[in-house]
Amino acid sequence: MPDQSKPSFLPVKSPNLSVISDTRKSMFCVYVFMLTFILCTFFILFNNPSSSSLKYIANFKDFSHFSSFFSHFFPNSSSNSTFQLGNNYTNYNNINNVSLSSNYTKISPRETVGDELYESMLHCDLFDGKWVKDDSYPLYLPGSCPHIDEPFNCFLNGRPDNTYERYKWQPHGCNIPRLNGTHMLELLRGKRLVYVGDSLNRNMWESLVCILRNSVQNKSRVFEASGREDFRTEGSYAFIFEDYNCSVEFFRSPFLVREWEIPDKNGSKKETLRLDLVERASDRYKDAEFLIFNTGHWWSHEKTSRGEGYYQEGTHVYSQLEVNEAFRRALTTWGRWLEANVDPMKTQVFFRGYSNSHFGGGRWDSGGTCDKETEPIKNMTDLPEQPPMIKVVENVIKWTKVPVFYLNITTLTDYRKDAHPAAYRTEEERRLRLRYQDCAHWCLPGVPDTWNELVYSQILIRNYQKQQMKKQQEQRH
Ligand SMILES: *[C@@H]1O[C@H](CO)[C@@H](O)[C@H](O)[C@H]1NC(C)=O
Ligand SMILES: *[C@@H]1O[C@H](CO)[C@@H](O)[C@H](O)[C@H]1NC(C)=O
Ligand SMILES: *[C@@H]1O[C@H](CO)[C@@H](O)[C@H](O)[C@H]1NC(C)=O
Ligand SMILES: *[C@@H]1O[C@H](CO)[C@@H](O)[C@H](O)[C@H]1NC(C)=O
Ligand SMILES: *[C@@H]1O[C@H](CO)[C@@H](O)[C@H](O)[C@H]1NC(C)=O
Ligand SMILES: *[C@@H]1O[C@H](CO)[C@@H](O)[C@H](O)[C@H]1NC(C)=O
Ligand SMILES: *[C@@H]1O[C@H](CO)[C@@H](O)[C@H](O)[C@H]1NC(C)=O
Ligand SMILES: *[C@@H]1O[C@H](CO)[C@@H](O)[C@H](O)[C@H]1NC(C)=O
Ligand SMILES: *[C@@H]1O[C@H](CO)[C@@H](O)[C@H](O)[C@H]1NC(C)=O
Ligand SMILES: *[C@@H]1O[C@H](CO)[C@@H](O)[C@H](O)[C@H]1NC(C)=O
Ligand SMILES: *[C@@H]1O[C@H](CO)[C@@H](O)[C@H](O)[C@H]1NC(C)=O
Repeated sequence: MPDQSKPSFLPVKSPNLSVISDTRKSMFCVYVFMLTFILCTFFILFNNPSSSSLKYIANFKDFSHFSSFFSHFFPNSSSNSTFQLGNNYTNYNNINNVSLSSNYTKISPRETVGDELYESMLHCDLFDGKWVKDDSYPLYLPGSCPHIDEPFNCFLNGRPDNTYERYKWQPHGCNIPRLNGTHMLELLRGKRLVYVGDSLNRNMWESLVCILRNSVQNKSRVFEASGREDFRTEGSYAFIFEDYNCSVEFFRSPFLVREWEIPDKNGSKKETLRLDLVERASDRYKDAEFLIFNTGHWWSHEKTSRGEGYYQEGTHVYSQLEVNEAFRRALTTWGRWLEANVDPMKTQVFFRGYSNSHFGGGRWDSGGTCDKETEPIKNMTDLPEQPPMIKVVENVIKWTKVPVFYLNITTLTDYRKDAHPAAYRTEEERRLRLRYQDCAHWCLPGVPDTWNELVYSQILIRNYQKQQMKKQQEQRH
């Protein structure tokens, strides 16, 4: 595995975060003061281009296995332009001060956490519900988190609207608690939470890193273990939260099974996919306390979907194998690996469901766009079609002896055509009005924050169940 690490990581000055008291009387004055403060801060920053100390180098090496799918998400990846990030916006240190904005510290009324809440969540489908506007979101100030990959950082890339950050997910049958970063870090103390999957899981991983970082006082005690700042290359990354002795990690594994190479007839190498082997790094995360898997988009690529001379088991390369069958075999391999390697007493396993794209008016490569979308889909008949892969996943996780919690986010995510980076993938692209848009990944803050909020809910539910079982056992003795 190539070591892509960079020598230093950017220390971020810790801001003095204080909390505004929520007393009604002083609220008006505070609002006026804050608004003035914010406007002044922005005025100063916007007029001072040299205030940006961050230089990002576009370093697109991510999808080495097949470059044509790579271009699905990062077209013209070979161009290695250097440019300044957010020149006309602000730098991250200053923005942290602005996080005192009343709109972002207001505490949501559904904060009351207690047995009643847990009981109601136990008997509730968390994924059946609707999006409602809530100005107490997002969970961290746009532009405030230095660990978001540039193509997800819509605010810094100049996206003008921000309503898409202000929704919370409301299940029909119960309330879910707002993700309390401090509390979640306490739950993670001394533990590892690991995402394994493709760039959409990287999207989700960066979301959680930012949510948790936001509730850490001394932000220089949150860092990537090897000091890297770009997470798009192959391999794995770990954010350490020193004060909690815990890590939140990402392992890139777009298929969950192993990418492979065999010698071709004419002496060159040929890429195949081993449906019978999980990927190499699996030993390194099998004993983490929390595992969140995903796979999906890469199976719709031409080479995978055509399935000619590509899928391999043992030494046998199938001259032709249908993609859904290949996908089923791959997930079966993954399920067996889970049973043989993961201890359900120690590890809580999640599988995050498929996140559909919203290319309107064409495919990603034929002019499909989503940049005019500023509101979620309202009519269910307008939701994207469901790929057959979803059923395969749902069937496999039914039989694994290690319980897998299905993060059934497909439908709730389907509504959110408004929340993709679209044209706001980079400042440069926005200016040049490039043709390709990203209607597959998600802006941060944004939809993956909700996915993580549902993970938090599920961790709370499980802890509650464990407590109840303990109580019952004690009562019996
Ligand atoms: C990508 O590069 C090709 C050839 O260099 C060019 O024709 C195409 O317009 C470029 N696409 C984008 C989005 O820049
Ligand atoms: C990328 O940068 C390298 C060296 O910095 C240069 O040799 C190469 O031509 C560049 N590639 C492109 C596509 O600009
Ligand atoms: C920043 O704004 C100035 C004028 O206000 C403009 O000339 C420049 O192109 C902008 N830079 C970027 C990166 O958009
Ligand atoms: C941030 O806020 C603190 C006080 O809360 C102040 O002393 C400091 O100057 C502020 N920093 C910036 C960059 O505005
Ligand atoms: C804060 O919320 C109020 C009302 O909810 C809104 O009028 C105002 O524009 C918001 N401020 C910011 C900075 O978004
Ligand atoms: C996932 O959620 C959707 C929307 O609530 C529902 O229609 C579907 O049946 C759920 N799938 C599973 C396996 O629970
Ligand atoms: C968040 O969790 C911490 C630690 O459990 C707790 O002290 C704090 O009151 C919680 N915050 C809210 C708003 O509930
Ligand atoms: C940190 O957590 C690990 C387990 O992940 C544990 O072995 C170690 O003792 C902890 N260190 C401290 C200082 O608590
Ligand atoms: C923050 O943590 C760093 C590294 O542990 C330490 O050097 C620094 O003194 C801390 N800052 C504050 C304000 O506590
Ligand atoms: C070897 O054959 C493959 C097709 O089977 C072809 O794509 C590739 O370019 C060939 N490589 C060389 C070095 O001739
Ligand atoms: C949803 O769309 C369908 C088909 O386009 C239409 O018949 C129906 O009236 C719409 N429903 C609402 C509530 O707009």
